[in-house]
Amino acid sequence: MKKFKKNILCIGAGYVGGPTMAMIAYKCPQYKVTIVDINPARIDEWNSDNLPIYEPGLDEIVKEARGKNLFFSTDIEKGIIESDIIFVSVNTPTKTFGVGAGMAADLQYWEKTARQILDCAKSSKIIVEKSTLPVKTARAMERILTSKNSKIQFDVLSNPEFLAEGTAVNDLKNPDRVLVGSRLTKSGIKARDELVEIYANWVPRDRIITSDIWSSELSKLVANAFLAQRISSINAISVLCEKTDADITDVAAAVGLDSRIGSKFLNASIGFGGSCFKKDILNLVYICRNYGLYEVADYWESVIRINDYQQKRFVLNMLTTMFNTLAEKKICIFGFAFKADTGDTRESPAIYVAKRLIEEKAELVISDPKALKNAKKDLDGIDENVSYIEDPHKAAKGSHAIAIMTEWNLYRDLDFEKIYKSMIKPAFIFDGRNIVDHKKLYEIGFNVFPTGKPSLTHFK
Ligand SMILES: NC(=O)c1ccc[n+]([C@@H]2O[C@H](COP(=O)([O-])OP(=O)(O)OC[C@H]3O[C@@H](n4cnc5c(N)ncnc54)[C@H](O)[C@@H]3O)[C@@H](O)[C@H]2O)c1
Repeated sequence: MKKFKKNILCIGAGYVGGPTMAMIAYKCPQYKVTIVDINPARIDEWNSDNLPIYEPGLDEIVKEARGKNLFFSTDIEKGIIESDIIFVSVNTPTKTFGVGAGMAADLQYWEKTARQILDCAKSSKIIVEKSTLPVKTARAMERILTSKNSKIQFDVLSNPEFLAEGTAVNDLKNPDRVLVGSRLTKSGIKARDELVEIYANWVPRDRIITSDIWSSELSKLVANAFLAQRISSINAISVLCEKTDADITDVAAAVGLDSRIGSKFLNASIGFGGSCFKKDILNLVYICRNYGLYEVADYWESVIRINDYQQKRFVLNMLTTMFNTLAEKKICIFGFAFKADTGDTRESPAIYVAKRLIEEKAELVISDPKALKNAKKDLDGIDENVSYIEDPHKAAKGSHAIAIMTEWNLYRDLDFEKIYKSMIKPAFIFDGRNIVDHKKLYEIGFNVFPTGKPSLTHFK
C-alpha cells in the first residue's frame, strides 16, 4: 500500500522552494514532499542544523517535518520519476548576455529543468511554475514537454509565490491569497483542482483564487511592480521633503489614512533591494517594449530609476556633509541585508553604498546579525579596507559616521550614548531607514541625517 497520498517534488531548494515546500509538508503529513537541487552544498545545509537561509520560524517547521514527510536530496532523476506533482522553483535572474541583456529573464535554468523532466518522467504529471516567469512561459514549457509526442501527459499550472523574505513563514501560513492559473481545458481544470486541494489543507477556500494561466503569470510581475512603485513614489517625495523642511513621516501618515491609498509600504528609505523587485520590473519593461508599448515600459522603468537615484543621493549626501572627503574615514554600516529578518543581500542597497564608499577610499566596518557571510561574498576582492564585526557597539567604535542600511529592530535600542562617546567627532549618523530616534541622537551630540526629514546638525 502507498504510504503517502501524493508525492510532491520541488526542483530548486532556494528562498522560495525551501520554505514553501516545508510549509506544505508541515501542514499536510499525508503528502511526501521532496526538494531537490543541483547544488549539493545547499542540500547538505538543508539536511543540517544550519539551514542555508534565515527566516523567523523556519527552523521549527523544517525540524518538525524533515525525515517524516519532508526530504532534501540531489537525486533529481529519482525525484522526477516518483512524483505526481512537480513544483519548479529554480532561479530566473536577469539575463546578463545577448539579446535582452540587463532586462529579460534568463530562462536557461528553467528550460534545463523542463527538459530534465521530459527525459526522466515515466508517468503523467502536473508541473507547477513556482518561479516568477515572463507571461507566456507556460506555453514554452508545454511545447518542450510535448516535444517527444509520448503518451505521458503534462499539465502545466502557474502558481506564483507571493511570500516576502523576512516574513516568509507567516506569509505561507496565512497568505493574502494563493493564485492558481491553468489552461481552461478539462485536464487543465482537473490539474488546477488538484493543486487547490493541497492548499485547501490550511488556506481558507476564499483566499485560493484561480485564473487563466497568462493572467496568473502576469499578476506576479504586476504585484511586484506595484509594491516597488509605492516605495519609489514615497522616496521621490522624500527628496522634496528634505528640500522643503517637510517631514516624510507626517506626509505618509496623512496620505496613508486615505482608505483608497492605505498606510502600508509608505516608509521612505534608501530604496528597495532583494532578488525580485528590480528583475521583475525589468522583465515587465522588456515584455512591454517587445509588444511596442514604449510609454508603458518607460512608466515602469522610472520606478527603478528613482530607486537608483535614492541610493546615489544617499552617498552623495554623506560625501558633501562630511566636508567633501571620505578618504581614510572610518564608516560603520549598520545592516547589509536588503531588509530586516533575512540574511539575503541580493540587490541590497548596502552593496551599492559600500562599493561607492570604497571608491571614495573610506574604511568600512560592516555589521549585521545575519548577513555578514553574504556581505563578504558581495565585496569579495574589493574588501581590503573592510572589516566585518557583528556587534554594532564594537563595529561603531572609532568611526566618523554610521550609515543605517537595514531596519533590523536591534538598531532601535542600541546604547547610542556609549556609541557616540566611542566615535570620532563630529559624529554623523545617516539613517537610510528612519528607524532611530533622531531627536534623541541629536541631543546626544550626533549630526543626524534622516531620509525625507530636515537634518539635525550642531554646525552653525
Ligand atoms: N526570493 C523571494 O523572495 C521570491 C519570492 C517570490 C518568487 N520568487 C521567485 O522564485 C524563484 C526562485 O527564487 P529564489 O529566491 O528561491 O532563488 P534561489 O537562487 O534562492 O534558489 C533557486 C535554486 O534553484 C537551483 N537550481 C537552479 N537550476 C536548477 C536545476 N536545473 N535543477 C535543480 N536545481 C536548480 C539553484 O541551485 C538554487 O538553489 C525565482 O523565479 C524568483 O523570482 C522569489
